[in-house]
Amino acid sequence: MASLTSPPRVPIPANGVDYRGKIVLAPMVRSGELPSRILALKYGADLVWGPETVDRAMIGTARRVNPRNGTIEFTRCPSNGGRRDKPFEESILYRIDPAWEKKKLIFQIGTASPELAVEAAKLVAGDVAGIDVNSGCPKPFSTHAGMGAALLRTPDKLCAILEALVRDVGIPYQIGISVKIRILSNAEQTEQLVSRLVKTGITGLTVHCRTTPMRPREKAIRDQLRMVASVCRNAGVACIMNGDVTSRDEGLALMEEYGVDGAMIATAAESNSSCFRSQEDGGLLPWREVVYEYLRSAIDSENRFGNTKYLLNIMIPGKDKEFKDAKNAKTYFDCCHLLKFDDLMPKALQVDEILKLSDKSIFKDSSDARSKAVQNALENNETARAASGVTARPKSSSPVVTAGGPIRANFIPIPTAKTDHVDAPVPEETLQKQELAV
Ligand SMILES: Cc1cc2nc3c(=O)[nH]c(=O)nc-3n(C[C@H](O)[C@H](O)[C@H](O)COP(=O)(O)O)c2cc1C
Repeated sequence: MASLTSPPRVPIPANGVDYRGKIVLAPMVRSGELPSRILALKYGADLVWGPETVDRAMIGTARRVNPRNGTIEFTRCPSNGGRRDKPFEESILYRIDPAWEKKKLIFQIGTASPELAVEAAKLVAGDVAGIDVNSGCPKPFSTHAGMGAALLRTPDKLCAILEALVRDVGIPYQIGISVKIRILSNAEQTEQLVSRLVKTGITGLTVHCRTTPMRPREKAIRDQLRMVASVCRNAGVACIMNGDVTSRDEGLALMEEYGVDGAMIATAAESNSSCFRSQEDGGLLPWREVVYEYLRSAIDSENRFGNTKYLLNIMIPGKDKEFKDAKNAKTYFDCCHLLKFDDLMPKALQVDEILKLSDKSIFKDSSDARSKAVQNALENNETARAASGVTARPKSSSPVVTAGGPIRANFIPIPTAKTDHVDAPVPEETLQKQELAV
């Protein structure tokens, strides 16, 4: 006779989060920096994964709160290859916005060592809801060092990493530990692996339904999914599916069909993260509206401009004229000017100053155009402020240091009316090496 009692669940720690019933943003190197995560949350993602950050890159960073916007920044000074003549420019490896991300952010770590994983994870454990181990990246940068998908072939090591994280980070900081894997080519092998992983004390497991050699464009394979979900369920571990999920509604339908607990979206959210809106809430928004919101978040969070431009190139469809214009931009001001986002321009100017971009503006010699544009924008803001005064940002819970003066305006303009529906920073040298985990 079948037992009527439901299987036990691994308890969710006090500062952690249950992955069940959630549609989440996938970890994406480059594409998963803070503004992209905020955008996904604005559009309804239930949780967000940060981009994979390698343990050794994280170790040695200093944590500070940005006095202008309340974000938490993990920074490091480059060694400059021992050259004293070069100025030491601090770089920001990872950024967290507690106002948006509290209890919503999962920090993903790239590691091949229990000791280094624990050391790196402890640095962020107080600021995140969970630590996830990347065991699916197929790129040589990861696998040569024994990280990513290489861990699928060294299950003893992967289990040791997860157990160490559960014991030395998950329990003391009361957050969840999870893992993201790919399927193996043979279902029995996947089952053996998952059966071991769920016994390590993890609260969640994400399965990317592609094998390690599969290219991102190849269709996801779903025939192992029910089995993985069942092994997880029997062990009380939440199971998230990933691979070719393109919207919230599709994710919910697939969860039902395959008996999984959650769904994770990567590339669909990269190009238009309003895919997290259900049809009931209006569904996909036109790219211009999404780009406006993205730029606003990028400016607010002082995102590295190179990273912002990289994302704009993905978000703005190639044939539009704005694509070329925005592609030429070298500053936030130029970008907003060219895209005619006038109300973002005053703040864009301030952030350009902070990021030392101002000299690169193509409008810098036509000071008239610049000041006129800003004047117009300020006047428009005044009118809008009188009419509304809505603040989109949730209340910050981080201790904001006031020195330096806030750059975040009290008034955040309301995005344009909805129309028809269409479609850390890692240090530069690490970025070059860390090929995208697609
Ligand atoms: C630009 C980019 C960066 C990625 N970086 C990571 C990463 O840091 N960690 C990871 O586990 N997977 C990474 N992935 C893989 C995705 O998280 C996801 O597993 C994969 O894209 C499949 O989901 P999709 O079919 O929704 O795109 C990345 C994917 C893309 C497109």
